[in-house]
This record gives sequence, structure tokens and C-alpha cells, in this order.
Amino acid sequence: MERVIPDFEHLSQDRLRALVATGIALNSELSLERVLERVVESAAALTGARQALLELAAGAGGESGRLVGFGIDPSSREAADEILHGPGTLSEPILIRGKPFAHLYLAAKRNDQFFTAEDEELLRALTTQAAVAIEMSERVARDALRRVVAAQELERRRLSRELHDETAQTLTSVLLGLQSIVEAADAERAVAEAERLRELVTQALQDVRRLAVELRPKALDDFGLLPALKRLATGFSEQTGIRVEVESFLDDKRLPSEIETALYRIVQESLTNVVKHARASSVSVLVTRKSGSVIAVIEDDGRGFDAGAGRDEGLGLMGMEERVALLDGRLQIESSEGAGTTIVAEVPLR
Ligand SMILES: Nc1ncnc2c1ncn2[C@@H]1O[C@H](COP(=O)(O)OP(=O)(O)OP(=O)(O)O)[C@@H](O)[C@H]1O
Ligand SMILES: [Mg+2]
Repeated sequence: MERVIPDFEHLSQDRLRALVATGIALNSELSLERVLERVVESAAALTGARQALLELAAGAGGESGRLVGFGIDPSSREAADEILHGPGTLSEPILIRGKPFAHLYLAAKRNDQFFTAEDEELLRALTTQAAVAIEMSERVARDALRRVVAAQELERRRLSRELHDETAQTLTSVLLGLQSIVEAADAERAVAEAERLRELVTQALQDVRRLAVELRPKALDDFGLLPALKRLATGFSEQTGIRVEVESFLDDKRLPSEIETALYRIVQESLTNVVKHARASSVSVLVTRKSGSVIAVIEDDGRGFDAGAGRDEGLGLMGMEERVALLDGRLQIESSEGAGTTIVAEVPLR
């Protein structure tokens, strides 16, 4: 039988342990960027190289030539060239489905030693593990994207249904009403009908405005997260009678737009959940900044639910999780029956 598991018996216990630990660490990373950073770090640590450089190959999703470095500034072409083409460098490709995804280069072994055959073997074992972790991270990214797209599609279907069932119906009534004005027996009836139509048009206008805001709140683009959240909260309170308090400890600087959008959507979905499920009388929304990240906390005083139980129906909470995961953040849901619900979304600022 073909031997697929390499023979590591002669490796020292320490190096074997380090190799296993590296494999576990690599597989716990979900974003490709972090996997690549871990690979260069671990390659250097395992072999005693002071410098490691990873160069993405042509097959790596259009990022051909991109460099990730450890112990070297990859933006310095000179330093990079020295490793890529210099003598005394150890190198190994990372193959995915038989095609090169990247090349890993190691240089400047500690104490001016040369790399050994054992270093080479360790590097090969590492690149095999790296390939698995990279494939996994690509699959995770694809799945996340698919779920976000599915959630968007659902949202569009809901908006399309509202447009069709409400706005289009109202406009149809207006059209019929206009006809009855034309055919009205006397001026008095025509005026009464016109009054009725005016109300219908006002209603349709309100629907269209509300749908436009739901699609993409203009305040979010024009004024930023906090004003948009305040507006969302005001509209929500007016419609539901549930009190919402929005508080922020951010300065006036705008956050990156993808973070603003994600946090806005998370608060929006949380509020929707509050009306749908919580039976709460008040909600507090807090946005604050803590050591390089932004945190949004949405807390209601409703009936709560079992946050630990499996969820297979709703898309809301899952969509929130996906949004923060795509920004390398995390979502915490604290709730128990009778004790209200707290959603904490934390996203790092990069
Ligand atoms: N604030 C809350 N208070 C009480 N229960 C909640 C709250 N938020 C969520 N839940 C519970 O968690 C479940 C999952 O929420 P989720 O937002 O994922 O789905 P949904 O609201 O039922 O459907 P969708 O969001 O897809 O329209 C809800 O069905 C509800 O039982
Ligand atoms: Mg929901």
C-alpha cells in the first residue's frame, strides 16, 4: 500500500510537538488572511528561520504575487527579492488539488547555521497542513457568502411582496378612483372621491419612503452610524410603542462603511426580533469603542429565550453571526427565559 503518512519517528519530541500544535492552530483559523500569517510564523518557528516569506501563486484567486512575511517587511521589494532569489534559502510549494497555491521561503537560520534535511522535512509537513487549512478557509468563506446571499434574497422577496401587495394595490385603487372621478355624476361626488384618492396616494408615498429606507437608509451614507441608528430607533418607537434608547461613546469620526452597515443591520434585526418575539417594553442600544474594536450592545427587557438551543428556522440571528464573522468579529447572544435578551456584536477596526 502506498505510504501517505510521513515517517516522523526520528524527529525530536519537541519538534514533533511543535508540528502537531501548529496543525491544530492552523485549523482553528477561519479566515484565509490569518491562515497565511500563521503559516509564515509557524514555518519560521519550526525551522529556526528568522525570516519567512510566502508568495501567492497564479492559482491563488487573482492574488498572484502577493507576499506575506515574517521577520521581513514584504512591502520592501529589495528585502523580498533577497529571500526569493538569495542563496541559503529553503523553499517549498503549497499545493492545493495538485496546483501550486503559494511558495514558502525561509531564510537566515538562527546562529548562522544551514537548514538541515530535517528542517526541509518539517517544512514539507507544514505545507501539507497549510494546504488543508487554506482549503478549509476558502470553503468557510464560500459558505458564509452563500448564506449572506440567501438572506439577501429572502429580504428582497419580502420587499418585493410588500411592494406588490401594498403599494401596487394602492396605486391600482387610485387608478380606479380616477376613472370614477371622470364618470362622477356631480362635482360634489368628484371632490369627495378626490379626497379619498389623496389619502391613498399619501399612504403609498409613506410605503415607498419606508421601503426605500429599509433597502438602504440614506442617513447611514450621509451622516454615519449614530444618526442612522437614532432615526431607526425613533421610527421603531413610533410604530411599536416600545421605548428605545440609543447611546454612543464614539467620537465623530466615521467608521469604515462595511462596519457601519453591519452594525446597523444587526441593530435593525435585533429590533425586529424584539417586536416579533420579545414582548419587551424597552430596548437599549449602546455603541462604544474598546481597544481597537467597535462594540454594539442591544438589550431588551422582554421574555427572553433559550439562546443555547439549536436554531434551524430563523435567518436573523444567523445573518448577524455571518456579518460579524465576515469582519473577523464575534457575536454573543445572552438570553434566558424570562430574563430579557442581550446581543453583543464586536468588530475589530483594522
Ligand atoms: N429579542 C428576543 N426575545 C425573545 N426571543 C428572541 C429574541 N430574538 C430572537 N429570539 C428567538 O430566537 C429565534 C431565532 O431568531 P431569528 O432572528 O434567527 O429568527 P426569526 O426572527 O424567527 O426569523 P427571521 O429573522 O428569519 O425572520 C426566534 O424565533 C425567537 O424565538
Ligand atoms: Mg429575526
